[in-house]
Amino acid sequence: MHRYGYSNGQPAAAYPSAGKAAFIDPHNKFQPRTRSMLRRYLPSIKIGGIIALVVTALLIFFPGLRSYIPLSIDEGFELETVRYYDLSNVQGTARGWEREERILLCAPLRDAAPHLPMFFSHLKNLTYPHNLIDLAFLVGDSKDNTISLLSELLEDLQANPDWKEAYGEISIMEKDFGQKVNQDVESRHGFAAQASRRKSMAQARNWLLSAALRPTHSWVYWRDVDVETAPFTILEDLMRHNKDVIVPNVWRPLPDWLGGEQPYDLNSWQESETALALADTLDEDAVIVEGYAEYATWRPHLAYLRDPYGDPDMEMEIDGVGGVSILAKARVFRSGVHFPAFSFEKHAETEGFGKMAKRMKFSVVGLPHYTIWHLYEPSVDDIRHMEEMDKERKAKETKEREERERMEKIKDQFDNPSSQWDKDKSDIRNMAKQEVEASEAEKPAEMRVESNNGKARIIDPLDEIPVLGEKPPPSW
Ligand SMILES: *[C@@H]1O[C@H](CO)[C@@H](O)[C@H](O)[C@H]1NC(C)=O
Repeated sequence: MHRYGYSNGQPAAAYPSAGKAAFIDPHNKFQPRTRSMLRRYLPSIKIGGIIALVVTALLIFFPGLRSYIPLSIDEGFELETVRYYDLSNVQGTARGWEREERILLCAPLRDAAPHLPMFFSHLKNLTYPHNLIDLAFLVGDSKDNTISLLSELLEDLQANPDWKEAYGEISIMEKDFGQKVNQDVESRHGFAAQASRRKSMAQARNWLLSAALRPTHSWVYWRDVDVETAPFTILEDLMRHNKDVIVPNVWRPLPDWLGGEQPYDLNSWQESETALALADTLDEDAVIVEGYAEYATWRPHLAYLRDPYGDPDMEMEIDGVGGVSILAKARVFRSGVHFPAFSFEKHAETEGFGKMAKRMKFSVVGLPHYTIWHLYEPSVDDIRHMEEMDKERKAKETKEREERERMEKIKDQFDNPSSQWDKDKSDIRNMAKQEVEASEAEKPAEMRVESNNGKARIIDPLDEIPVLGEKPPPSW
């Protein structure tokens, strides 16, 4: 296993880093002390020595003062290599950014190169102070260039001239877990592969966390790299709820022909009587994976309860949690809750983690109306369907083009005087002309206006027809 320690000199980075230390920063207060530094501090060491002498003398002559001195001063800090941590300061609170609470951001990676640039774009946009976030990646069972791309993107991320924009300590761990399942969507999401896939994912998470969690961390944030859209303020938004474990709702966009959008993460759910009864019938080692027809659990899923206009702060108590985006207080893990790589209450990995946290009386909630969006990756069926739609579209275009060409040909023939069409056309025209002349000959005469000594007179032809009896007087 390689481990690359990147440090930007935050208090958390109090660990010697093996391998290359790419991001040593001038603000580092915890760099290994050198002789020149010793010389620089010599005057203060002298003053310190005098103070120590005075304090010792006081304590000898007034023993009552001793009870005012914290024990740690007597015992700690004599050795360079001893660090003192007060874990009651890293319990996690609702407004952690004001108390400078550190977050460990964990991302398990497997053949993740195609998604890494998007993931780093998310990292750059997070509003939680970057210098308070340490990053930990576990790269396992990868055949692509995940590691090299990751190092490249990290160098770019940390190259920010504003040191506050750079992240804290960064660790990359490499370890294979022998996942043999193919990484394509179908194999990953197929029912048969789920239990063993979930167990090796659980191991990867536990290895990553146990290697990266420091006594300085108040929070742990798990984030998948294939999240496409999420609020920049997600860490603060989740933290504000001050829960031990909290997850947002996770949906994914779909092409229009599939309905536009769809619930994605079905692993966040509330326990149901049906599922408990089902669990009782199963073998001790069985693992229920939620969201498959094979296990009809009738559990209320966080995903299906979403109302796009609902209150994003609304909370729902859940038992199983999905792993796309989990914010948890570090104390949950310190208490021993983990991602079971075995059947815990008939569940494994993140669902088992939720159940275990609940079992230890931690609060576990989901936000049904606070949604982040997972990338849409077409399934084999979708790809087949899209290929068919593509074929149909091309066939339609060919047909339309042929039809257009046929019509143009007809039009050409119609306009060509030497053609039969033209002869017929003029025959039809002649016939029509004769008909018009004939009908005009039969038309009754119309009224006309005549001028008579400067006065206009309307002559109605009907007046000129001789009538029997008295002729009506002219109207003027
Ligand atoms: C990050 O912010 C920039 C600028 O607002 C935006 O263009 C980009 O899409 C954001 N990245 C992600 C992954 O949301």
